[in-house]
Amino acid sequence: MLILENIITIDGPSGVGKGTLAMSLAKKLHWNYLNSGSLYRILAYLSGQQKIEDSNTEALVNLTKNLSVEFEINNNELVVILDDKNISNMTQTEDCAKKASIIASNNTVRKSLIKTQRMFYKEPGLVAEGRDMGSVIFQQAKFKFFLQASAKIRAERRHKQLKQKGINVSLSRLISELDRRDKRDLSRKSSPLIIPTGAVVINTDDLTIAEVMGQVMKHSKKLFKTKK
Ligand code: DC
Repeated sequence: MLILENIITIDGPSGVGKGTLAMSLAKKLHWNYLNSGSLYRILAYLSGQQKIEDSNTEALVNLTKNLSVEFEINNNELVVILDDKNISNMTQTEDCAKKASIIASNNTVRKSLIKTQRMFYKEPGLVAEGRDMGSVIFQQAKFKFFLQASAKIRAERRHKQLKQKGINVSLSRLISELDRRDKRDLSRKSSPLIIPTGAVVINTDDLTIAEVMGQVMKHSKKLFKTKK
């Protein structure tokens, strides 16, 4: 297998800090960025708008055709652009996350998103984050990371993030929803959340973002030699 030196994959469960890390890396390296979870969230958002049932595979697959998605990073915040429209607020709700997790367990839908995801790989390189970036979509990536953290800490981080955005959700509801999504993501038949072969595993429970970044940079030193 041809190993690609200019792809970094970051996988792990919800709320583990993948987004912050991946966006910082993409900015530092001036590489492209793929937030694959947003693609499932976009399908959730569009299917909600068009009243498509989660079980209607054909209609969901149709939605995956010709998706025009861009990711921007604005003050370390993810901006999701669909057809030139900023839909970040619509895709970041807990309801959207829940629906996205159900849609993401559909193997046919997952397959139909593979090409779209691989199209984000462009020069000079790509930082891709999600659940199956290192195990399925970009198996050839040279630098693979898998982040872990306890469910309680992940829920607390998510709670803080949502609060900052003015979204009020109870912590106990977040913990139980995170737990339910984890179970679905881990147990699904199609591309379940696994530690990709060759990935460096980082437990972020007691680490700051800067410390996680430091570990990633230590394991991918050669990428940063020429960067400031
Ligand atoms: O990372 P996130 O919370 O935005 O992801 C939303 C849902 O999509 C989540 O339940 C897991 C799923 N997902 C997936 O199955 N595969 C990916 N590569 C990324 C996300």
